[in-house]
Amino acid sequence: MKIELSNNKVFFEDNGSKKEIHPFWLRERVNGESYVDRGTKQRLFDPTELNGNIKIKNVNLSDKFLEVIFSDGTETKLTIQSILNEFSNFNYVKFIEKTKWDSSLSNLNNFEFTNDIFEEKVMYEALVNFYKFGFIIFKNVPTEDNFIVKFANSIGSIRRTNFGEFFDVKSKPNPNDLAYTSLPLAPHTDNPYRNPVPCIQLLHCIENKVSGGYSTLVDGYTVTEKLKKDYPDYFKILTEIKVRYQFIDKEVVLEDWSEMIKLDENQNFKQVRFSPRLDFVPLMDKEKLDLYYAARNKIAELYNSDKYRLEFKLASGDLLMMDNYRLLHGRTSYNTNEGNRFLQGCYIDYDSTEGKLKHLKRKFNI
Ligand SMILES: [Fe+2]
Repeated sequence: MKIELSNNKVFFEDNGSKKEIHPFWLRERVNGESYVDRGTKQRLFDPTELNGNIKIKNVNLSDKFLEVIFSDGTETKLTIQSILNEFSNFNYVKFIEKTKWDSSLSNLNNFEFTNDIFEEKVMYEALVNFYKFGFIIFKNVPTEDNFIVKFANSIGSIRRTNFGEFFDVKSKPNPNDLAYTSLPLAPHTDNPYRNPVPCIQLLHCIENKVSGGYSTLVDGYTVTEKLKKDYPDYFKILTEIKVRYQFIDKEVVLEDWSEMIKLDENQNFKQVRFSPRLDFVPLMDKEKLDLYYAARNKIAELYNSDKYRLEFKLASGDLLMMDNYRLLHGRTSYNTNEGNRFLQGCYIDYDSTEGKLKHLKRKFNI
């Protein structure tokens, strides 16, 4: 990629393809201190109020800079690198490649908590691992009540739901969700009925004195790739049919329609939703429903199989951060007579982790 000049025009050349850069695109990027606020990096002018017919009056290109004088009298000096960065459309977070894993994964992405961790390089490393594996575990996080809220807000902003700003996961009478019992929970994603679905769940173990109550995780990405390769018909129908996910209690009715496997605009993995206690498949032809139910059974079998399900015990002070669009989570049953099992949970969205990751990358010049 490089920048070239010809007859007071600026061109962008990439792999033999050469395109003119619109003069107004450059005019919008005029960056002197009377045009851009130094602190916020926001424009001090509104480009929609400018005459769109602005031309380049004079231009000079050196190794590092492009200097332009425009027909409206403004001048600017842009770094070549900043222009190339915009053309590469570089999104660092999307660039972090996912690592597929199954139950043989032995490294549980443990990171030791310290009070200053949110501004340290180790947090950058932890977040990179989060995007690679879909989960990380912070060890020895203070077990104060509500600490989860402070933790979440130190990465970004907490995402409140109708379960509150945070929720207590322990067995309680008359629960509005099976999470608040001692029953086993098969691998599932949280809140598939919400629009948008909360992106990331944080789960902080305050106390775990029971012999059961193991946490389980499954990589939905690995299972999706397996389904795509070995059962293409099942993969196809689960990426096409929108299912109604529903949650009802005394105060609210929440519904959202979505595919069980959602792909992005390039047909790549984007999100899985799986919660067979609250999904409602639409009425379709019998043959199509036969195929749909077979596909759903197969993906449930894979999600629940020992090959893909990671099982481990959260200890007091452990804080698990997991991608609710990629991973499924669950737990084994436990006996409440053995002692307390008490976790606190909350949600944050991807803008929190992406914002923190990019900030730390900038801070440590990585
Ligand atoms: Fe859950």
